[in-house]
Amino acid sequence: MQSDPSPFGIRGFLIDAPEYGSLRSRRDGAIIVENGRVAEIGDYDDLRKRQRAAPVRWTDREAVAVFPGLIDCHTHLPQYSAVARGESQLLPWLRENIFPVEREFTGPRAREEAPLFFHELARNGTTTAMVYAAIYEDSCDVGFEAAEQSGLRVILGKMMMDLGSYGQLQPKKILSVSLIESERLCRKWHGADNGRLEYAFSPRFAVTCSEKLMRSAAELAQRFNAYLQTHLAENQEEIEKVHNLHMSARDYTDVYEKCGLLTPKTMLGHCIHLSAREIDAIAAAQSSIAHCPTSNLFLGSGLLKLDQLLKAGLAIGLGSDVAAGPELNMWQVMRGALDVQKARNMLEPNLQRLRPSEAFHLATSGGARALGKSAIIGSLDVGKEADLIVVDLAALLPYGKQGRSFDDLTPEDILALCIYRGGPHANLETYVRGKCVYCAPEPTARA
Ligand code: GUN
Ligand code: FE
Repeated sequence: MQSDPSPFGIRGFLIDAPEYGSLRSRRDGAIIVENGRVAEIGDYDDLRKRQRAAPVRWTDREAVAVFPGLIDCHTHLPQYSAVARGESQLLPWLRENIFPVEREFTGPRAREEAPLFFHELARNGTTTAMVYAAIYEDSCDVGFEAAEQSGLRVILGKMMMDLGSYGQLQPKKILSVSLIESERLCRKWHGADNGRLEYAFSPRFAVTCSEKLMRSAAELAQRFNAYLQTHLAENQEEIEKVHNLHMSARDYTDVYEKCGLLTPKTMLGHCIHLSAREIDAIAAAQSSIAHCPTSNLFLGSGLLKLDQLLKAGLAIGLGSDVAAGPELNMWQVMRGALDVQKARNMLEPNLQRLRPSEAFHLATSGGARALGKSAIIGSLDVGKEADLIVVDLAALLPYGKQGRSFDDLTPEDILALCIYRGGPHANLETYVRGKCVYCAPEPTARA
């Protein structure tokens, strides 16, 4: 992994989306990175000419775009090997396809897979990820070790469940072991490498967690100022189950509210089927939402009412939700977000359309806000930590370099190409805090 405290410059078409609804761009721009932060941004010609105390090492390339690193707000480390498996809806899919894979994610299997997973994230241009491990302490511990090695910014937690779990433990012991192990992992990893690695207490969802577990998870998160992550209102059968388990609760969200799980450091996966009251409660608690469109389409879970959530002022990021989502590729997740809203538009033509620039905002600045990290990542601004990706535009065009001129492409054109055709084949470099955590092989080796 390349680590360089001396300044270096990256030349390219700079594109970011600090505000929802608009793009900011600079054709033939440049970024100078120093000590892991964005030190200067400007036109390439200006920055190249400027006199400085320390020499800048430049990487000049033709036809590349530079974006803020992509942020994946919800994914599952042990599930990646099971992508695209199963045809059913959420609860049978979990039972038949996912619990068996997670059950095996311990020992050598977990040690082998975890580094591959984080490498895949980096290769896809994801610089920050919020991740669930399996229920085993070692699955999370080796996950953190691999995340530490990868150089990525990672929030990770051991999956907590004490109802219908897949482990070998006796039911009486499950709750206390889950709490003890989660706390131990949090003490060991939360805030490691100067805050690059953080802990998320991770009660799976109200179907597999007792009230005692959820309350205790919330208390632990508060005590350590750690994150919380769980799933909410993804599927109708799930909602009915929760209703039957918690007859006195006003609704599904109320179950989490009563247990103290709704906090400003809580990430709620899905949130497809929410009432107006639930949306207001989440907004009042300043909890965030991870929208997982490719997962929602794969499991047929439903179409997120994105406009209603945005109108309520909620902080929303995007999640790959592997393995319900078939890819870690966040460009595909952005495409999924557009597809979901297009499907809604077919049923409700008066709804405002979601634009590529808005989906891109959700995957960058929106994700940063949802994680409470707007001050340090999410956009290309001087002073922010240098989490960036460099994308090869020729790899996105139908005829590559022989096709249309790059000079004709607007920022919107480039984003649309990334969203509809982007992925690891076009990702040249991924930087976190100015460190190159992924560098594509030379084109000859790639061909
Ligand atoms: N709800 C509870 N657990 C899961 C999971 O692993 N994936 C998805 N998509 N939904 C869940
Ligand atoms: Fe999930």
